[in-house]
Parts: sequence; C-alpha cells; structure tokens
Amino acid sequence: MRTQVAIIGSGPSGLLLGQLLSDAGVDNIILERSSKAHVLERIRAGVLEEGTCRLLDQAGAGERMHREGLPHDGFDLTFDGKRHRIDLRDLTGGRRVMVYGQTEVTKDLMDRREATGGKTFYEAADVEPHDFAGERPCLTFRHGGVEHRLDCDFIAGCDGYHGASRKAVPKDAIRLFERVYPFGWLGVIADVPPVNHELIYSNHPRGFALCSMRSHTRSRYYVQVALDEKVEDWSDERFWDEIRRRLPQGTAEAMTTGPSIEKSIAPLRSFVAEPMRFGRMFLVGDAAHIVPPTGAKGLNLAASDVHYLFEGLREFYSEGSSAGVDVYSARALSRVWKAERFSWWMTSLMHLFPDNGDFGQRIQEAELEYLVGSRAASTALAENYVGLPY
Ligand code: FAD
Ligand code: DHB
Repeated sequence: MRTQVAIIGSGPSGLLLGQLLSDAGVDNIILERSSKAHVLERIRAGVLEEGTCRLLDQAGAGERMHREGLPHDGFDLTFDGKRHRIDLRDLTGGRRVMVYGQTEVTKDLMDRREATGGKTFYEAADVEPHDFAGERPCLTFRHGGVEHRLDCDFIAGCDGYHGASRKAVPKDAIRLFERVYPFGWLGVIADVPPVNHELIYSNHPRGFALCSMRSHTRSRYYVQVALDEKVEDWSDERFWDEIRRRLPQGTAEAMTTGPSIEKSIAPLRSFVAEPMRFGRMFLVGDAAHIVPPTGAKGLNLAASDVHYLFEGLREFYSEGSSAGVDVYSARALSRVWKAERFSWWMTSLMHLFPDNGDFGQRIQEAELEYLVGSRAASTALAENYVGLPY
C-alpha cells in the first residue's frame, strides 16, 4: 500500500490534518489503534478557540458546531466567596470562545471523512514507523489478523501521549520537558442545566472547581482531587456536596444536581517534546505536548500544530518547496511553549498546592484580586484564554 501522508491516530489532530490534506488533493491514510466507537466515547475538552473553529470550517466540518455550539463572551472567576466576570469580548477587541465538546468535533470530522471517501483503518494493531530519517519512510501494522506495510512520503504522528510515533524516536534525538502536578481532576457529566450561562473557575481553600457545560441541558463539572483518590469512592452525592462547598453560597444554592452519566479522574501534567520533526516524521498534538486542562488549551494546541503542518505539506505538494515543513517544529513549538506557560500559570493560580499552606492560599487570593482589579492583568488572561494568534 502507498499514500502520500500516513497519519497515526484518529483523534482531533489526525482527523483534522487528514481532512485538510484530502481537500487540498493530498492523499492520506489514517491508522487508528481503537475502534471508531471507542474513539467517540472519550469525553475530553469542551472549549474551542476561534482559530480552531476556523480550521473546522476550512475542513468543511464546522456546520453543526455553528448550529449547536455555544459562543461564550466571558467566564467567571470565584475566590474568597466572591465572583468576578472576565469579559473576553471587551478585553480582546471582540474575540470569544465556542463551547462545543471534543466528542462532537471528532464525530463531525469522522462524518466528513466518510462523506469525502477518506481511508481509515480502525483497530490497527502494532503500528510502527520505520526509516523516517531517510527519503522513504513506511509504517507496518496488523489489521484483521493480516500484516500490512504502508509506504509514504511523510508520517504524521497524531497518536496522543501514549502513541507509537514519539516512542520510535532515538532517545538521543529528542529532549523531554515535564512537570507532574500533585493532584488530578474528577470530572462529572450530568443532564442538568448548567449553574451559570458561562463557565466558572473557582479557587477555594478545599481545592479548585470548574463549572462547565456541553449544552443548555448538559453540565460538565470538575473538582480537584488528590492523586490517590478512587472514582469508586465518589458517589454522585459526595461529588455534588464537594463542588457546592467550593463555590460562593449563592452559586452553590443555584446549582441543579442529578445523576451523573460519566465520572472519571484525569491526572494533570505539563509535557513538551523537542523537536517536533524527525526527518520525514512529525509529532502533532498530544503526541508532542500535554498541558494541564486549566485554561482549555490541549485540543486547541493540537489544532494550531495541524495548521502549521498542513501549510508546510500543502506548500511541499503544490509548490515543491520544503520551506514550510522545515520550519514546522520551530513555529509549532513557539506557540506550544506560550500555551504551556499559560496553562501552568492558570493551574498554579487556581489549585490548592498542599505544600504551600495558608501562605500560598493568601498569595493566590492576592494575585486574583490584582487580576480582576487591573485591566492590564485581565487583558493578559483574556488574550491567552481566547488563544494567541497564528
Ligand atoms: P488524542 O485525542 O489523544 O488522539 C490520539 C489518537 O491516536 C487516539 O484516537 C488513539 O487511540 C490513537 N493512538 C494512540 N496510540 C496509537 C497507536 N500506537 N497506533 C494507532 N493509533 C494510536 N483538553 C482540554 O482542552 N480540555 C479538557 O477538559 C481536556 N480533558 C482531557 C481529559 C483526558 C482524560 C485527556 C487524556 C485529555 C484531555 N484534554 C483536554 C486534552 C485534549 O483532549 C487533547 O489535547 C486532545 O485530545 C489532543 O488531540 P490529539 O488528536 O492530539 O490526541
Ligand atoms: C472544560 C475543560 C477545561 O479544561 C476548561 O478549562 C474549560 C472547560 C470542559 O471540559 O468543559
């Protein structure tokens, strides 16, 4: 088998890259380890930057997002029993974000790929990249019990943090940067109306809490938990009691509770691999970097990587120039590190760090007071939250 660009992974980055390439006439095949149903079951990000929405439109997959997604002009910060609004629109000269779940983004991209005849091998086992240091890379994999070899011009590793692409890079060719946080997020989805029409990020001495949503009738809530917490120990009742304790009284009283339809714990991590290109293989999205979820940057960073790589590949195939692919890693990393900084900063500001004690809590509250009281500081938060330009 042969294709121009072999893509590992059918998460948002693999699907988006594949669609942009297909629409530009560049042949591509996606190899995905899991089943389609499994990929669609994963509940992850919920907030899209305008740049991500633009790319979905460019890929012809934005129609349902515009119909069903919820544009948000701001969000609230709560701390010390008070609630303050960050007016994104006012602070950024009219920019906003779109609340639309990653599950829906993935489904829309899969539907578009199917409608346009894109080829995907789901349940592809033992995917392995080879010979990417030279001019003729290839991938081997097993599908339906049969061994396959896929020859290609380029490999795009869109296979997430645990994928095969980064693992295939020789250790002395890659540098890894990492910070692991001493807590995780316990997330719940419930078919109850959201407590507020916008998101609420809460700093509280008991730990961080986030009130988000997927629609006017479906809420997404998170609380910071210790790393050794087990999801089985969190009944719905315990979860609702805990999140209400971490919100100002009026907000807690306004919250509608109900049975959860999903509950899981995710650890928090900052991680960057440098560079993001190894000969004819590129790392894209979570394969190259992880941010802690505070600030909702993970999926949006995957999208900006795709933009840079797509532009490089389009230039390669339409103009015969490798200039764009040659600068992919540097361009992507420059935006990645800024989002890493923002996500680390917002995580540090909003979470309880047990080792920092009461002093740490007061310092966070002082910074939050400064943030909501200073237009300059609010603007810095807002322009990062809506997404730095690319
Ligand atoms: P992924 O979505 O991870 O997709 C990678 C794909 O590659 C998967 O389908 C996987 O099955 C496949 N794959 C892996 N290994 C192989 C292999 N060897 N062979 C073939 N295929 C393979 N971001 C936010 O902004 N907000 C959030 O609330 C949020 N919550 C998250 C919760 C969790 C539990 C996780 C893991 C991430 C969360 N993120 C969140 C981050 C966001 O979901 C990711 O940044 C985003 O999914 C990145 O997309 P991706 O396509 O690069 O990687
Ligand atoms: C969601 C997740 C985030 O990390 C965030 O900052 C905002 C919203 C969400 O899942 O809805």
